[in-house]
Amino acid sequence: MYKEIKLSDEIFFIGVNDRRTALFENMWPLTRGVSYNSYLINDEKIAIIDTIEAGFFEKWLDKVRTIIKDRPVDYLIVNHMEPDHSAAMRFLAELYPYMKIIGNRKTMPMIEGYYGIKNNLMEVKEGDVVELGNTSLSFHPIPMVHWPESMVCYEQKSGTLFSTDAFGSYGTLDGAVFDDEMDFEYFRDEMRRYYSNIVGKYGNPVQKALSKLSGLDLKMIAPAHGPVIRENIADVVARHDRWSRHETEEGVIIAYASMYGNTEEMVEITARAITESGIKKIRMYDVSKTHISYIISDVFKYRGVIMASPTYSNELHPNMEALVMKLQHMGFKNHLLGILGSFTWAGAAVRKLYEAGKSLGWEIVGEPVEQKYSLDADKYQQCINLGKAMAERLKDFRK
Ligand code: FEO
Repeated sequence: MYKEIKLSDEIFFIGVNDRRTALFENMWPLTRGVSYNSYLINDEKIAIIDTIEAGFFEKWLDKVRTIIKDRPVDYLIVNHMEPDHSAAMRFLAELYPYMKIIGNRKTMPMIEGYYGIKNNLMEVKEGDVVELGNTSLSFHPIPMVHWPESMVCYEQKSGTLFSTDAFGSYGTLDGAVFDDEMDFEYFRDEMRRYYSNIVGKYGNPVQKALSKLSGLDLKMIAPAHGPVIRENIADVVARHDRWSRHETEEGVIIAYASMYGNTEEMVEITARAITESGIKKIRMYDVSKTHISYIISDVFKYRGVIMASPTYSNELHPNMEALVMKLQHMGFKNHLLGILGSFTWAGAAVRKLYEAGKSLGWEIVGEPVEQKYSLDADKYQQCINLGKAMAERLKDFRK
């Protein structure tokens, strides 16, 4: 059974919630689940915009059929081929053999490659329009947000942008579907974690997409995951604009590895010095406990980063090494970096963090602190000095 959820006279929300899957893309913790959003336009012609993850097909099809009864689906719009949205395509094509599958030039080989579908494919390019009756859809490729074939479509009558992964969020839709009928604040951190980990690498393509979409009169943003945005459109667009320009705010994220507590003691002292120097927003994470996705999300938010690691077999602690590799892979910009580390027989961690910071183009703040054995009075003071230096450098941006 399905109780209809409508975006407009013709547009229905037919997405599903996933509270069972532990890891999105088998990598990213779904602490609060995720929704796979799909939309149906019930007009003279019937169009479905994206499908859902394969395991939800039966539940999703029930929604489709509750709305359209025995009418056939005329169009399937493929905004994005990642299987969390495309997986039901083959089943749907078998049920509705005359259904046209709409994608752009880059979508077509993926449809054949993934699902062996060669017939009834309809290629669209920038600005093409499909009339459905009262409603119409125009198509706008936004390559690399998040895959090469990623595309959005815009429904003119309701002013709805079907934005695929763009403007999406982790978190299930627990009763409410629209931002103005829920506690939207609850989604803000999950929206940034989703953006930073899934799309964050592609800041330039996101900027191009935002520029392209700025000409549309947006009354609703209907993404492929998370809330449908009606009330917070300007705010959500502005946030994505800031994130994709790597614009950060005052605050410090401290990510540390520590095997026996010596490196942890160093960052505790540094954090206190930052606080005493007047910086309030400090987030501290043990990289062996907190999943990297939460750390990456906060690196997107805060200008200051402090990284600390013991030397482990002449390398960084493996979990810190994974974080460094991820930061390099994603090309994070515009950060201030403070560095600490400890060792017992030969130090390497501080040098490696310094090299990583340089390779990222980050500004190294203060003097890196490297402690042999446990913390002595001299290095204790250096940890304080590093914290003060970070705070003072952050305050420069207030001017
Ligand atoms: Fe939600 Fe890039 O797929």
